[in-house]
Amino acid sequence: MLTRRKALQIASAGAATLSMTPILTIAKAADGFLEITAGPSRKKLYREDAAVSELWTYNGATPGPEIRLRAGETVKVRLLNNLDEPTSIHWHGIRIDNAMDGVAGLTQPAVPPGESFEYEFVVPDPGTYWYHAHNKSWNQVARGLYGALIVDEVEPAFSRGNDLTLVIDDWRLNRDGSLDVASLGHLMDWSHGGRFGNWLTVNGESRPEIRLVRGQSYRLRLINAANARIFEIDPGRFGAKILAYDGEPLEKPTAPIYAPMLLGPAQRMDLLVVTENDFVLEELSGDSPYPVAQFRAVDGDGPVPSSKSLMPNAIPEPDLNNARIVRVDMTGGAMGRMVETVYQGQVLAGEDYPRTGQLWAFNGVANLAEAPLFAAERGETIILEVVNNTAFMHAMHVHGHHFRVIERSGATIDDGDPWRDTFLVGPDQTTKIAFVADNPGKWLFHCHMLEHAAAGMNTWFKVA
Ligand code: C2O
Ligand code: CU
Repeated sequence: MLTRRKALQIASAGAATLSMTPILTIAKAADGFLEITAGPSRKKLYREDAAVSELWTYNGATPGPEIRLRAGETVKVRLLNNLDEPTSIHWHGIRIDNAMDGVAGLTQPAVPPGESFEYEFVVPDPGTYWYHAHNKSWNQVARGLYGALIVDEVEPAFSRGNDLTLVIDDWRLNRDGSLDVASLGHLMDWSHGGRFGNWLTVNGESRPEIRLVRGQSYRLRLINAANARIFEIDPGRFGAKILAYDGEPLEKPTAPIYAPMLLGPAQRMDLLVVTENDFVLEELSGDSPYPVAQFRAVDGDGPVPSSKSLMPNAIPEPDLNNARIVRVDMTGGAMGRMVETVYQGQVLAGEDYPRTGQLWAFNGVANLAEAPLFAAERGETIILEVVNNTAFMHAMHVHGHHFRVIERSGATIDDGDPWRDTFLVGPDQTTKIAFVADNPGKWLFHCHMLEHAAAGMNTWFKVA
């Protein structure tokens, strides 16, 4: 893993980006579809005199355009593929019609180069979501194919100027400041903690300076778009409270009970900040703190914020007394944790691991098998008991459903049991989650450390 020290060496070469990127507007076609084109873009990720990066973007920018609408409205997006390889878009965290979930190879064929696909779905719940490529995500997301999807309350709780989206990414740059594409797909990353970078951006900019009006309250929507890095943040340092995890509001704004809080790949955390002084949002997982964004408290009137409290979304409550327990043993990876693994019906041995790139498994099976992990009746409560027999932490994501984390390593959890769509499970730890399988279709369950998913931590379940 590249250390933060390395990141800071590059950073200290000089960085000066000072404002938030305005939200891009998306062209709407005559038929009302937003047009999103996935294609190559040559951009400087780092400072002006750096080498150009070969990115892949939506509509020429990374993150792609923020898609923003109100709960109950319909998203209509036409994806046009200008890449040289097939792609698809997944709408992460949305309780969606299965056919629109965007999983290439499971819910739709990947969209070939030069072709298009129309996504049309209702967004039932307000919250902070995101969208990203879901074909070879380890490559396509690492190159920039993602964006925010924000669903406002029917009456938005915060006024527009007091509601900020921060999509945070972790890039691996070469010495000349260009994106390191040569190391994409390295099995060293796949077998360890995934692809770590050495340069963080917020909405595509490095260390943006964000002005907040003193005395006003703001909603900061943090989205971790990194392939593998778990951000460690300490919102308590600037007096922030947590409003929501993974798009799901807490009963009330809550002071963080851990320091630091972990924000794993694909996870979101909405913070409530009442601006008093300048502060810095730092990422603390490295040797020294990494400033992600600087916030300046300025005097001004600006819009008067409403900051109503948020209403919990109407997710069906799991019935724990009548639940089916499905155990998932996670194995594989470096540090001597490889065990016998089946891939496409064959038992892997020796040379097969590097040849297939399959290095991790759920219940001894690497990657999408013919048979689902389980098949649920519609409305059945499922408890997934996830046993991490590996030496690494993982960020496990359930498609199409939010779940409650009900137990961690034998203890009932001490931070309540919030709804989430992605949870972290530590090395040699067990986490139990519960949800009502209420949405018919084929749904993925995978590690959102995208190298791990590609290398075997990828399965699916069926809801009748
Ligand atoms: Cu955010 Cu299967 O994805
Ligand atoms: Cu993982």
